Amino acid sequence: MKKCLFVPIILLLSLSLTAQQIPSVVGKGKAIDPYKYTTVKKASYQKAAVSSAHPLASEVGALIMKQGGNAFDAAIATQLALAVVYPAAGNLGGGGFLLARKKDGELIGLDYREAAPANASRDMYLDEQGNARISLSQNGHLASGIPGTVAGLFATLPYAKLSFARLVQPAIDLAEKGFIITEREAISLNSTRESFIRYNTKPTAFVKNEKWKAGDTLIQKELAGTLKRMQKEGAQGFYGGETAKLIIEEMQRGKGIISLEDLKNYTAKLREPIRFTYRGHQIISFSPPSSGGILIAQMMKMIEKFPVNSYGFQTAKSVQLMIEAERRAYADRAEHLGDPDFWQVPVDSLISESYLSRRMLDYQPDKAGISSQIKAGTIAQSEETTHLSIIDAQGNLVSVTTTLNGGYGSRTVVGGAGFLLNNEMDDFSVKPGVPNMYGALGGEANAIVPGKRMLSSMTPTLVIQNGKPYLTIGTPGGTTIPTSVFQALVNLIDFKMDLDNAINKPKFHHQWMPDEVTIEKDFLPETKKQLEAMGYKMKERSPIGRTEGIRILTNGKREAVADKRGDDSVAGF
Ligand code: DON
Repeated sequence: MKKCLFVPIILLLSLSLTAQQIPSVVGKGKAIDPYKYTTVKKASYQKAAVSSAHPLASEVGALIMKQGGNAFDAAIATQLALAVVYPAAGNLGGGGFLLARKKDGELIGLDYREAAPANASRDMYLDEQGNARISLSQNGHLASGIPGTVAGLFATLPYAKLSFARLVQPAIDLAEKGFIITEREAISLNSTRESFIRYNTKPTAFVKNEKWKAGDTLIQKELAGTLKRMQKEGAQGFYGGETAKLIIEEMQRGKGIISLEDLKNYTAKLREPIRFTYRGHQIISFSPPSSGGILIAQMMKMIEKFPVNSYGFQTAKSVQLMIEAERRAYADRAEHLGDPDFWQVPVDSLISESYLSRRMLDYQPDKAGISSQIKAGTIAQSEETTHLSIIDAQGNLVSVTTTLNGGYGSRTVVGGAGFLLNNEMDDFSVKPGVPNMYGALGGEANAIVPGKRMLSSMTPTLVIQNGKPYLTIGTPGGTTIPTSVFQALVNLIDFKMDLDNAINKPKFHHQWMPDEVTIEKDFLPETKKQLEAMGYKMKERSPIGRTEGIRILTNGKREAVADKRGDDSVAGF
């Protein structure tokens, strides 16, 4: 499990085509019209499909596959497009995880999570009295880890077929020519306006004099410049040269600590995926520094021996069982999980059948567990992210979750370079007992160390059924990510729902601490009442997750679904 190959970031493969030779597919009346587009929530396609958080990004991915690219080409082009059309979470200045299964069965887990800068230190967010100053880990220059996304895109390139120059062109066009924004985006930009002004040292494309409204065109010239430097110089166009210089100048103006050395030394890493079976399905998900794969393995294995289907969908009985599995898994997360290059994560023990059946020994049907009494297990040895799912005509499956952490990350745009920086440092445990912005607790395993990657909940996941590729799925949502994926999989496998229902049915979430169950608005009132009678504290919250999934039906069609909770949209052919 500790195997971890380093992927050099400067995979300057043939950037053979120059920009002039690449025909533009984006523009008024072109294949992708950024001034006129519609959202498609679900569709079945013969050959290939993309599901992502934005219609234009899904269209870019599908078109790239139509033009001869595979799912990896589409993953690169879709992420680049998201960095333009979905600035709240799509990114160049963030990080993510790509999980893929090639048509020949080879699994690829690519970790391009941000890392703590060399000048970071364990107590960097504490004041003189030792109090945590979470405003610094959540906003502005000091909140950013070293960006990983661009290294991730270039580490994906060897699996792709087309040149990077071609894959980045649609994003350049979208940034340069602009695209019309949705109502949701307008509301979101308006509500972030004050932060954009406070945390930036130069004017940004996201702030204008009057309020944004649906149908306005967002043009990002400086971002287009950065994308063009990447088109010309490869990863060096981001981690070196002009872009790196602009990042460092931004850091100096805002008292940030990311250095040129940090940028130069950053690498994406290959990680061995987490694998387990659940009721005959082979499930594959991401390993540390994401907690996602371990959490879903734990939760699913804890409920596997119970006849969940006979309990019924979202009855108090099935929900209670799943809540108790969630409670125990998240207690382990807080204690045992961190970057495996800095902390020994007992992966095999944590997902072993014997350990997990022990964890449920104190489970009492009809009675709420109490988090303060349910600690992490002892091991013998020592809100804004975005997901995209892709399946191509050959049967390659790709699942990518990528993030700036909070919506628009640190809110700081690199002056002159036009992209937002992440606020991922808040995913470290800034002080034991102090919750991060998702309420997650952590300790030594996830303490800040230079070069270390902060623990994530991102859970890009694949499912193999009867030896054949079946499903690619994932979602944003901070700590709710693993529970969202868990519940979508249980809906599909135990409750035999179609993908649309599996994704869109109401969700619930328990993360050990705080000891409460959060539920979506349309969660069944009768079940809520019964759970309250058992002793659960139930609290309504904002929508949970924006899940994107694609599965291969028995007739070979790709059934693609985009979550109803956002502007998410599918595309394919
Ligand atoms: O890596 C993580 O777990 C978080 N930074 C993810 C943030 C997220 O999903 C926000 N989206 N709503």
